[in-house]
Amino acid sequence: MALLFYSPSDDPDAWRAMLTRELPDLDFRVWPETGDPAAIDVALVWKPPAGLLGQFPRLRLIASLGMGVDHIFADPELPAGVPVTRIVDEDMCRQMSQYVAHNLLDWLRHGAHYRAAQAAGRWEPLALSDSHHWPVGILGLGALGSACARALTALGFPVLGWSRSPRRVDGVECLHGEAGLTALLPRCRVLVCLLPLTDETRSILNHTLFQRLPRGAYLINAARGAHLVEADLLAALDSGQLAAAALDVFGTEPLPDDHPFWSHPAIRITPHVAALTNPLTAAAQVVENLRRLRAGQPLLNVVDPGRGY
Ligand code: NDP
Ligand code: OXD
Repeated sequence: MALLFYSPSDDPDAWRAMLTRELPDLDFRVWPETGDPAAIDVALVWKPPAGLLGQFPRLRLIASLGMGVDHIFADPELPAGVPVTRIVDEDMCRQMSQYVAHNLLDWLRHGAHYRAAQAAGRWEPLALSDSHHWPVGILGLGALGSACARALTALGFPVLGWSRSPRRVDGVECLHGEAGLTALLPRCRVLVCLLPLTDETRSILNHTLFQRLPRGAYLINAARGAHLVEADLLAALDSGQLAAAALDVFGTEPLPDDHPFWSHPAIRITPHVAALTNPLTAAAQVVENLRRLRAGQPLLNVVDPGRGY
C-alpha cells in the first residue's frame, strides 16, 4: 500500500516513523516525490493545493491530518466517491479546552489589568469576578465543543451549547437549530466558536449575531477564520458591543503584517495553535484505518461530504 503525505506544517519524518513502525511494508511517500501517481492508495494531507488529490487515479482514502476537513472540501477538483476521514483525538480536545479556558480565565481574573499594574509597580486589587456570572455559549457541540463544555463546567462556568441536531452533554444546556441560537445568544457573556466551516456556518460571526449578544460580550474563535466577518468584529469592538476577542484562526494565514488585528488593544492573537495534531497520539487511528482499508472494513472518523463535516 502506498501513502502520499502532503502538509506545509506537519513533520513527515515523525509521521513516517509512527506509521511504518506499525506497518513496516507501507510505502510512505512525501510530496513532491510521488512516484507513479497510479500507485497511490492513500493521501494523508493538510491543506493540499487544489487539483493535487485529483492526480491519483486509484486513490482509495483521503485522510485529513487535522480535525477539520474544510481544507479538503475546498478543492473544486476533489475526486468524487473517495472516502474522507479526519482526526478525532482526545489530546487535541484537551489542548482546545486549555486554550479556551486560558483565555476565559484571563478575562475573568483581570489578567490585562494585573499585568499593567505590575508593569507600573501598582498594588491595585479589583473586585471579585465570579465565574457564575460568566455564562459561556459554545457554537458546535462536537468532539471539541463538548470537551470544552465539560472543562468549563468543571471550572464553574454556566455553559450553553449549540449544535445542528439535538445533543446531550451533562451539566450543559444544549440547544440546536435557529431557535436554539436565538435563545442562546442573549444569554452569553462569552461566545466560543468551535463549528466546522461549511456553507451554513461561513461568516456566522457577523454584525447581526454580535447585536444579539449582551453588550460588552467576549468572543473566542478557534474554529476557522472564515467563520468571522473581520470588519464586523472591528466595528463591534470599537462600538463597545464586544469587549474583547481571542482569535486563533484568520481569513488569511499567516495573518498579513499590515492587518489591523495585530495592534488592536482588545484582540488577542495566537497563530492557529489552539489544538495541534500530535502524531504521537493521532497516528494510531490512521494506522487502524489503513488496516481497515486493506481488510475492506468500515473506516473510523469518516466525514459526510453532503454535510461538509
Ligand atoms: P465535530 O464535527 O465533531 O462537531 C461539529 C459541531 O458543530 C457539531 O456539534 C455540529 O452539530 C455542529 N454544527 C455543524 N454545522 C452546524 C450548523 N449549521 N448549525 C449548528 N451547529 C452546527 O467538529 P470538531 O469539534 O472536531 O471540530 C470543530 C472545528 O474546529 C473543526 O472543523 C476545525 O475547523 C476546528 N479546529 C480548530 C483547531 C485549531 O487549532 N484552531 C484544531 C482542530 C479543529 P451536530 O452535533 O448536530 O452534528
Ligand atoms: C485542525 C486544525 O483542523 O488544526 O485540526 O485546525
